[in-house]
Amino acid sequence: MDDRNLPPAAPIRSHRRTTAASDKDHELRGSSPGPPSSPREPHPRENRDDDTTLYSATSSSCDLSKVEENHKRQNSEDREDQASKQSVSHATSKFLGTLARCTARLLCYPPRPSGSESADATSDQRDSDPGVEVKDDNDDDDDDASSVASVTSAALRGKIENGRLYAGFGSQEYGMPMDTAEKEKLSLCHTKYFALLDQQRFLAPVGNHPQKILDLGCGTGEWVIDVADMFPTAEVLGVDIAPAQRDWVPPNCQFELDDIEQPWTRKEDSFDFIFARDLLLSVRDWPRLIDQIYRHLKPGGWVELQCISGPIACDDGSLPKDSSLNEFSAMLSSSTKQFGTPIDDPARYADWLRDRGFQHVSKVVHKIPCNPWPRSEKHKLVGAFERGNLATGLEGMVIRLFSRTMGWSPEEVNAFLVDVRTDLKNENYHCYWPYTVVYAQKPGCKPVPSG
Ligand SMILES: C[S@@+](CC[C@H](N)C(=O)[O-])C[C@H]1O[C@@H](n2cnc3c(N)ncnc32)[C@H](O)[C@@H]1O
Repeated sequence: MDDRNLPPAAPIRSHRRTTAASDKDHELRGSSPGPPSSPREPHPRENRDDDTTLYSATSSSCDLSKVEENHKRQNSEDREDQASKQSVSHATSKFLGTLARCTARLLCYPPRPSGSESADATSDQRDSDPGVEVKDDNDDDDDDASSVASVTSAALRGKIENGRLYAGFGSQEYGMPMDTAEKEKLSLCHTKYFALLDQQRFLAPVGNHPQKILDLGCGTGEWVIDVADMFPTAEVLGVDIAPAQRDWVPPNCQFELDDIEQPWTRKEDSFDFIFARDLLLSVRDWPRLIDQIYRHLKPGGWVELQCISGPIACDDGSLPKDSSLNEFSAMLSSSTKQFGTPIDDPARYADWLRDRGFQHVSKVVHKIPCNPWPRSEKHKLVGAFERGNLATGLEGMVIRLFSRTMGWSPEEVNAFLVDVRTDLKNENYHCYWPYTVVYAQKPGCKPVPSG
């Protein structure tokens, strides 16, 4: 996908909403300004009331002076962030990001074969989310009768820890950074998954005309953008605790800052499809999240959860028991458990979905080779992507985790990772990450679309 051709989009908003307005908001996120807007036909949904109330400078939740102040601070934080990320090779991660985008283009993105908001969050609950200032907004009469909140500058800026930038929003700690190096890594993984799933973005049989789609923990938003392109008449919403999404997106695509582990303030029975990918080191209570997903899907709507899981597997005994990689895998299992986000949670997705009442639960476990050791073309390619991902992404995956759970310093983490990286590159070790894809349907008939 070449996003240079995409029209400008509405900026990110917070479901507990942002103070920022339009271009200022882009700048707040420290991203480079997009190209100048070009004249174009308005999209049918562009002038919706909710867009206006959310983004116009007259919105009651908008405070431009705060935005400008945030912007200045953000610029200086960005400089600090850049300077402090010496441990990550920017050149390499940039190269990998570019490689991912080029490969995505080469893979051609073929078309997929056919195949009253419950304002249930009390202000107490919302107040418990650091980084959110809740405001009542009685003027907000969109059908998204959600709470309106300003996101504090600290939440937008994030926080630097061990030389990495982390999200500053959300009630619980997310284990991985959300800085430039991490975003490049997510881009690369987005392409890797496209190759892994035979050029599909998801497997659930959602039909050709879903109307409302939600991506939980959308990261850079590339899945949201691609799916918005696939279904131009659908509204596709991505939510995340980090404002890491791109500025230039299709008009039917929108991003919000939101913590999915807080009570959702969205309309129940309203989504045709809810998707979540790689919510690693993210979710403390999956059954509770699955309950929220269930309640917010329309009857007949689909959920799909995709995630890598651990421990690292090897089917032919080629990985020595005393290898650093084996030790790393065992440490990952115990540390993620201690952190409250066990790495083998994806193995339980299907049971949790069934327990909540979902039907037609399907589960496929793919293999992501750690390097290009397999013979098959597809897995060789996926393994090459994974080698790049692990080369640059391993530190981000564990630096906070090992520091929180084992008290390791960044130096100790990086010293340990030297041998792990060597093992990961060894093509005689036939190792892979299990990658679980589970999709399921909420029972009931799909309502006939109105209009
Ligand atoms: C490994 S990234 C995956 C991003 C994206 N789904 C993808 O596949 O490219 C996990 C994402 O979940 C987000 N996240 C973690 N905890 C969250 C929460 N409680 N609410 C919303 N997003 C969350 C993180 O900020 C991060 O962007």
